[in-house]
Amino acid sequence: MSEFLLLNDIQQIVENLSDVSNQFSGKTVLLTGGRGFLGRYFMEIFNFLNEKVLKDKVKVIVLDNLITSGKEGAEIPIYKNIEFINHNVIKKISLDKPVDFIIHAAGIASPYYYRAYPLETLEVAIKGTQNMLELAESNSAKLTFFSSSEIYGDPDQKNIPTKESYRGNVSCSGPRACYDESKRVGETLCNIYHNLKGICTNTIRPFNVFGPGMQETDYRVLPNFTSRIKGNIPLQIYGTGNQTRTFCYITDAMEGFIRVILNGVPGEAYNIGNPEPELSVIELIEKIELILGKKVQYHKVDYPDSYPADEPNRRCPDIQKAKIQIKYKPKIDIDEGLKRYINWSDRVYTGKQ
Ligand SMILES: NC(=O)c1ccc[n+]([C@@H]2O[C@H](COP(=O)([O-])OP(=O)(O)OC[C@H]3O[C@@H](n4cnc5c(N)ncnc54)[C@H](O)[C@@H]3O)[C@@H](O)[C@H]2O)c1
Repeated sequence: MSEFLLLNDIQQIVENLSDVSNQFSGKTVLLTGGRGFLGRYFMEIFNFLNEKVLKDKVKVIVLDNLITSGKEGAEIPIYKNIEFINHNVIKKISLDKPVDFIIHAAGIASPYYYRAYPLETLEVAIKGTQNMLELAESNSAKLTFFSSSEIYGDPDQKNIPTKESYRGNVSCSGPRACYDESKRVGETLCNIYHNLKGICTNTIRPFNVFGPGMQETDYRVLPNFTSRIKGNIPLQIYGTGNQTRTFCYITDAMEGFIRVILNGVPGEAYNIGNPEPELSVIELIEKIELILGKKVQYHKVDYPDSYPADEPNRRCPDIQKAKIQIKYKPKIDIDEGLKRYINWSDRVYTGKQ
């Protein structure tokens, strides 16, 4: 396994899934975005399941056009039963074997990249999703679409923590619209294919997942901060620093995702994240300081052109639905998750932005 992930984390995810993972026995999975942050975890988990758990192996077809996968994703491991195809999912693809599960995780996920690639961001979530839904229809496969917590936009106070039933407060023309709105259309497509054509679909709305494997240069908040710390460069806080997020460690998130993929109620959307603690950006820096045992220099700046302003003031999931329907329960607290991530990033990141 590459230095970009931790074997202990993969083991932990597989152990946490021991009650359900057998459902992949003998099945074929189509995974899009398989060289991104989450996609690489899926590849490692399926390989681990094949090596250590499943008698009847799971076959995996991985699609990615590598548009934002960086050096971490470009190194493609060769695993038995896992096939990689360099493919842009906005183009149709015909497969030479039937598939049972489709995991549509291709997307332009980092705000920095969707600012740089707004049309590609729209297309992968709309055309890409429709192409995958058509494949699900012709294969009678179950499809899981990776949407985002961003579909809620900037919720008002009374809708935080945010339930799946909240309709959102989203701008169709703001700097984040290409991402938020296209994920909303992607969800609508899933619902139409479910209601009209009987396709088994689920939607996942991840809330700020973090962990080893995040690209140093994709400008999401934690890699941005830890890379700067490694390079002894002061952190920059965009805006006031009072905007809040909750952070979900990768082992919990992957467990939740796979529980949705296997046992989500057809047609339903699920928040997957960790609702506690809700931290402002400044409180996040204070947590990092405690873990490092030293002060970190930072200053507040205006939003740069490369980063979409208009970000949500608060973001925090209500995860009751996933707890009840698919037995999802985050286990790794923020301190433990940050320790694992910071130790890893200190070893792997270069500190050069
Ligand atoms: N990581 C999170 O916290 C988070 C939060 C909310 C939503 N999501 C969603 O989950 C999915 C996976 O997120 P991630 O963090 O792994 O993102 P990522 O950017 O690390 O990976 C996405 C992958 O999709 C690929 N891709 C993009 N467009 C493509 C196309 N047209 N055809 C084929 N491949 C394409 C990229 O090359 C990349 O490897 C995304 O759809 C993202 O929007 C993630």
